[in-house]
Amino acid sequence: MILALETSCDDTCVAVVTAAGEIRSNVISSQGVHDRFGGVVPEIASRHHLELIGDVLDDALATAEISLSGVELVAVTRGPGLVAALLVGVATAKALAAALERPLAPVDHLHGHVAASLLGETPARLPFVSLVASGGHTLVARVDDPGPGFRILGETLDDAAGEAFDKGARLLGLGYPGGPALERLARGGDPQAFEFPTGKRLRGLDFSFAGLKTALRYRIAELGEAEANRRRADLAASYQRAIVESLAIRAERALAATGLERLAVGGGVAANGALRERLAGLGVELDIPPPQLCTDNAAMIASAARYVDPLPYPDYLDLDVYATGERALGATR
Ligand code: KG4
Ligand code: ZN
Repeated sequence: MILALETSCDDTCVAVVTAAGEIRSNVISSQGVHDRFGGVVPEIASRHHLELIGDVLDDALATAEISLSGVELVAVTRGPGLVAALLVGVATAKALAAALERPLAPVDHLHGHVAASLLGETPARLPFVSLVASGGHTLVARVDDPGPGFRILGETLDDAAGEAFDKGARLLGLGYPGGPALERLARGGDPQAFEFPTGKRLRGLDFSFAGLKTALRYRIAELGEAEANRRRADLAASYQRAIVESLAIRAERALAATGLERLAVGGGVAANGALRERLAGLGVELDIPPPQLCTDNAAMIASAARYVDPLPYPDYLDLDVYATGERALGATR
């Protein structure tokens, strides 16, 4: 029994997963207090994690119908993420593991998104190309084995795909997080109405989304407030299409470059219906976990923990968090 904690951003998450990848519980408490700031405020997220983590833990154990003494391994996201937020998960995990005298597995958040595809009764078969598109990261990787040492083939040079959704949504007057709201608005619009850059001309496997956001801003200014308002759904649909195309083009290139015929997708943006549809048209074996395993959750951290060397009790007491792409856990580029 693996007990996993994930607090890298604004979701307080605890899950219980077996070594075979069966999800016994996967509790996610979304804070929902950051909307009015238009983004996540790290110190506020941290304080809320502290208030929520005990109840979320109790809920996860109760749903899994186990007690703490049944926990054999504690896993936790160590980074990348918001330092103040990560610290709550890591301190809690250390306390639990030390009290139980159990080992602790420190997990990289991106390894977690990749490993979400390895859960459940029909895990993705290795090797595969992994596309991870979240609010903080966007990358394509070659995954030959389930450990943290996957090979990054391309990543974003500026904004992440989810960030592009969030910033676009903001320009269109939608709340945070923008991805789901923009997707809803786009359903009533024409994806061909406006031409937005997909970074197609950028060769290789890296992504760039900063120009897209600027293009939307200029387009709204050109149209003027009243017209832009009238055509909000068309703007949303066209903007979404550009992000989806940008992701699909890189996924396709990565499949061609590696000669692999399996694609696994993770990260919050993988919840997007237009992206799912577009990738389904690639004609390769496609693994996209259900939405609750795509957005941040602790089941994916437990999944990754199965393939990490755990630190024995009490070697983890001085374990620290990391904010950005330290690649401390072995991914290479
Ligand atoms: O993986 P995630 O939950 O957290 C991070 O690690 O960042 O991803 C959150 C991101 C947000 O930017 C959110 O707007 C985006 O995923 N997102 C979506 C959708 N659901 C969440 N983007 C597009 N369409 C969606 N349905
Ligand atoms: Zn994430």
